Amino acid sequence: MTIEPRPGPRRTAGESSGPLNRKDFLAKLTIAVSAVGAAIIGVPFIGFLLAPFFERQPQTWRAVGRVETFKIGTTVKVSFIDASPLPWAGVVARTAAWLRRETQDSFIAFSVNCTHLGCPVRWLPGAALFMCPCHGGVYYGDGTVAAGPPPKPLPRYPVRVRNGQVEIRTSPIPINP
Ligand code: FES
Repeated sequence: MTIEPRPGPRRTAGESSGPLNRKDFLAKLTIAVSAVGAAIIGVPFIGFLLAPFFERQPQTWRAVGRVETFKIGTTVKVSFIDASPLPWAGVVARTAAWLRRETQDSFIAFSVNCTHLGCPVRWLPGAALFMCPCHGGVYYGDGTVAAGPPPKPLPRYPVRVRNGQVEIRTSPIPINP
């Protein structure tokens, strides 16, 4: 009596009998490469979409001068260090605002940057207007747009008086009004 060997499973060309054959390996490799590719593209994109919900804009109170140095009814330019200066920024870290003393203890601070394309605006006391030299933007004394391309009023900074010092709460440009 002869014993015939039992036939094994039929294999196609390229298949092996190991625990992970070449076809399975290539399928898993494709999935892994696709997942890495999707992560490379997807993570920054999701981060970009969610950033506004988590980003905290640095805001800092900066002293700009003693109260008595500002005359009631006048608008003067004050300069101060930006809210988020880079260590190597040097003089570029300085920014400015137009500060008006309205009454004995109330102040208004306007951004110097035009809401069109950011050029520094000038205060013309005779006309009681802010003028932008770049494209002819004009703002009334309260910062609202009088003429030209600016799409919205000059942003304002919060102002307070602490220990006899006028302080402006800075925020990065563009300022969110
Ligand atoms: S930047 Fe001021 S009008 Fe254009």
